[in-house]
Order: sequence, then structure tokens, then C-alpha cells
Amino acid sequence: MTRIVAADEPGIAAAVAALARGELIGLPTETVYGLAADATNDDALRRVFEVKGRPAGHPLIVHIADASWLDRLALDVSPACRALVEHAWPGPLTVVVRARDTVSRVVTGGRDTVAVRMPAHGAALAIIARLGRPVAAPSANRFGGVSPTTARHVADDLGEDIALVVDGGACDIGVESTIVDCTLEQPEILRPGAVTQDDVRRILAPSGTTLNDGVTGESRAPGMLARHYAPAAKLVLHETAASLPSDAISVLDCASDLVEAARTLYARLREHDAAGHAVVHVLMPPARGLGHALRDRLRKAATPEK
Ligand code: TXA
Ligand code: MG
Repeated sequence: MTRIVAADEPGIAAAVAALARGELIGLPTETVYGLAADATNDDALRRVFEVKGRPAGHPLIVHIADASWLDRLALDVSPACRALVEHAWPGPLTVVVRARDTVSRVVTGGRDTVAVRMPAHGAALAIIARLGRPVAAPSANRFGGVSPTTARHVADDLGEDIALVVDGGACDIGVESTIVDCTLEQPEILRPGAVTQDDVRRILAPSGTTLNDGVTGESRAPGMLARHYAPAAKLVLHETAASLPSDAISVLDCASDLVEAARTLYARLREHDAAGHAVVHVLMPPARGLGHALRDRLRKAATPEK
């Protein structure tokens, strides 16, 4: 079994030592748990793709411990990007920026852009700061599956393939970060998350920067397939309670409290799978605020296998 360590001094020291040796760890963040590797170690990065079963062209997010590290990784950071990170970091926002030559092309999937995020989680920040290097971390699940929001989920999914997982508690937010492409003159949301379209607009307004529009509903980041975040159960999505079958055995209400729905979404999907439910009826959240992120994940989770 994977070793689950507490997010205390010995646990953090063990996590840093493992990363420094080029091993992979389960890293808690406020969104979902990450499968973390030293972002400057190409062998470790290749292992991340191998363990996840992720195609090499799908870039990873690089996590930093301080906003000042952005310039170690990025070239030509726009004023709009600076405004975004100033307002939203540490937090559930990832910015895509032009990568310096020194950034590993394994982490960028061969691209000249890199995705960067400073997570709002004490243990994650402590680990990255002490390592002194950026840490690449996709969600710590196998490719296409449900993202993990507890240390136990990570241990169940990845087993012996990682050195340890740091138990930083259940994730506060529960869905992956908002990704904003800041390489464009008009920034564009590539994946909706807890930093909402309205938040991004509000932050950009004083500089007169407008958002490239119309994309809040669906993830458009590379590697985002139609089917993703998917449980074994078949999800049936309902826009109103009126269409829920009266004899439905398993219902997932995502419409009543959006923050709670996001926080518990992946754990609930796992519970339905563990209970052996073949079909889960989902009451969809409204298409506003955090509802966009939930609708995006639910639609991808509901997409049938080809
Ligand atoms: O909340 C999160 O972002 C979590 C936690 C662990 O921080 N991480 C996460 O990573 O969701 P992952 O690998 O599951 O999703 C990363 C997504 C990729 O699907 C990819 O589309 C996008 O980030 N991405 C990474 N680098 C990119 C780039 N250079 N350009 C565009 N999109 C990029
Ligand atoms: Mg993922």
C-alpha cells in the first residue's frame, strides 16, 4: 500500500526528499490532489505520464511556491496576466504563458507555452518552497478517471506507483483550477473552475482588457477529451428536477449548493461506483458562476465510452 503521511514536519520532509530523489508523490492542493514530480527532472516527468497513462503531448501544470517564481518560468508576462495572478494567487487559477527555454519540454508536452499555478494549500506551498524548485502535478488519477480529493483516493488509484501521499485533508474546492490562456491579446478561459468568468472579467476590467468570450461552458485546453473525469456508472443529466424518474435509486443533486456540490462531486461519484450503482441521475447546476465548472465536468463524465 502507498504510504500516507501526515502534513506535519516529518511528512513534509519525507515528501521533499522523495521529490528531490526524482520520485513521485501525492500532493494535496485546494482543488484536487496532484501527482507531483520535480518539474526540472525529465526522468521524473516521464514517469508522471507513464503512471497516469497520459499521452506525452498533454502538458502538465507547473506549481510554484511564490508568485515571484512565475518569471523564472515565463517570458513576456502581460499586464493582464500579472493582474490575474495578483488577485487570484495563491488559489485555483492556472495561467498559460510563454515558456523560457529553460522550462522542460517534457512538462509542456513539446509546446513553447507553460501552465503555471500557485496553490492555496499550506502543505503544498511548504513542500514546493522547501524543494526550491517548481513541481509539476496533474490530477493524481489514472487518465480519464475521476480526480482524487482525499489522500485515500490517491492511494486507491495509484497504489505502488508513487513514493507516498501527503494527507492534507479533503480538498476545499473539489474541482480543478480555472485555466486562462494569457498568451493571447485577449485572454481566454480554457477550463472553467472556481475562479469564475465573472471574477476574471472583474480583475481585467481596470486595464481595459476584455476576455475572449463564449468558452466558459466547455474545456478547450489540450488533452481535454470529450470523456474525462468519468466514473464507471452511467450519468444521466437532468436540467430540472421534473425530469428525474420517481423511482431513481441514485441521485446526485448539484443544483442546490454549488460550493458544496463542487467540494463533494468527485467523492460522491466514487461512492456511487463503490456502491455498484450502474446509473446515477444528476440534477444539473445552473450555468452561472461555479456552475460552469460543474457543468463542464459533469458533461465530460457523462460522455459515453467510444
Ligand atoms: O487544479 C488543478 O489544476 C490540478 C491541481 C493538481 O493543481 N491539476 C490539474 O492538472 O488539473 P491536469 O494535468 O489534470 O490538467 C492540466 C491541464 C491539461 O489538461 C492541459 O490541457 C492544460 O492543463 N495545460 C497544461 N499546460 C498547458 C499549456 N501549455 N497550454 C494549454 N493548456 C495547458
Ligand atoms: Mg486531470
